[in-house]
Amino acid sequence: MQLTDPKGRMHQIVLQPGGTFHTHRGALSHDDLIGAPEGSVVIAVGGTAYVALRPLLADFTLAMKRGAAIIYPKDAAQILAYADIFPGARVLEAGAGSGALSAWMLRAIGPGGHLVSFERRPDFAAIARANVQKYFGEVPAWWTLVTGDLSAKAALGLTRAVTPATAPGDSGAGGEDGAVAGSVAGDGPEAFDRVILDMLAPWDCVADVATAVIPGGLLCCYVATTTQLSRVTEEIRAHGGFFEPAAWETLMRGWHLDGLAVRPEHRMIGHTAFLVTARRLADGVAAPARRRRPAKGAHGEDAE
Ligand SMILES: C[S@@+](CC[C@H](N)C(=O)[O-])C[C@H]1O[C@@H](n2cnc3c(N)ncnc32)[C@H](O)[C@@H]1O
Repeated sequence: MQLTDPKGRMHQIVLQPGGTFHTHRGALSHDDLIGAPEGSVVIAVGGTAYVALRPLLADFTLAMKRGAAIIYPKDAAQILAYADIFPGARVLEAGAGSGALSAWMLRAIGPGGHLVSFERRPDFAAIARANVQKYFGEVPAWWTLVTGDLSAKAALGLTRAVTPATAPGDSGAGGEDGAVAGSVAGDGPEAFDRVILDMLAPWDCVADVATAVIPGGLLCCYVATTTQLSRVTEEIRAHGGFFEPAAWETLMRGWHLDGLAVRPEHRMIGHTAFLVTARRLADGVAAPARRRRPAKGAHGEDAE
């Protein structure tokens, strides 16, 4: 449950019979909440009222244990929409980090989809797994978390191992130990609908993941700096297998609402990252020439 006090401070707890939630404003018995409808108001011993609601996924990801920095809900929402993460999609992701984006995508694709997430750091992979497990109550059968560097070849082996009949993508189909399951008849070598990269050097992975995404599929990169944005975009263009990339950022500004005092909040998260997406072209197709001539000096003084 998520308990919110009158000042808007939130606490997330797992209810247990006989359990107690302690704050500096007094204790609150879990039993007062167990069986009560969501949206109940409970009063701590010190008299403070708490509103009790199940945390939304946005609340959960912001409060969960972090290893690597997470993708914030505002950006996860953009990725779900503009990277077109649909029910049943086969998605390849790296790195899993703390598992925040994994949780959003697992929920969006549902049991008919398959998410293969690579994470090179075993400690972060363990955190991602624990966070996802906590949110879903168990590790979703449609998730394969691989500890190791992203590899399209290994990912394709995993996705082919999952067919509707064998869908439990449990640890037997990869799991956290990174073992790649044997191949089962699948849908060809280009088996992912979407690839999402959130890592320091996504340009190193563009050529590799291009072999794993279906024609018409989509590559989405989340990068924190303009230098990364430029480098990955030019890498995508130079590869030739993608249609012209699109890039943007999202600024989300909360509003203070109090009677006639309605104004933007003074504080906001001013910057998280940029997103860049590009659609995969069919093999053997040349990317059409860009409509606009590059700006003078955009590619260095000597460039044509
Ligand atoms: C910023 S974190 C990802 C956070 C994650 N998207 C989330 O929402 O919780 C970036 C992660 O990428 C991992 N990483 C970087 N390069 C990688 C690669 N080539 N293969 C697999 N993981 C990689 C890092 O270890 C790090 O944990």
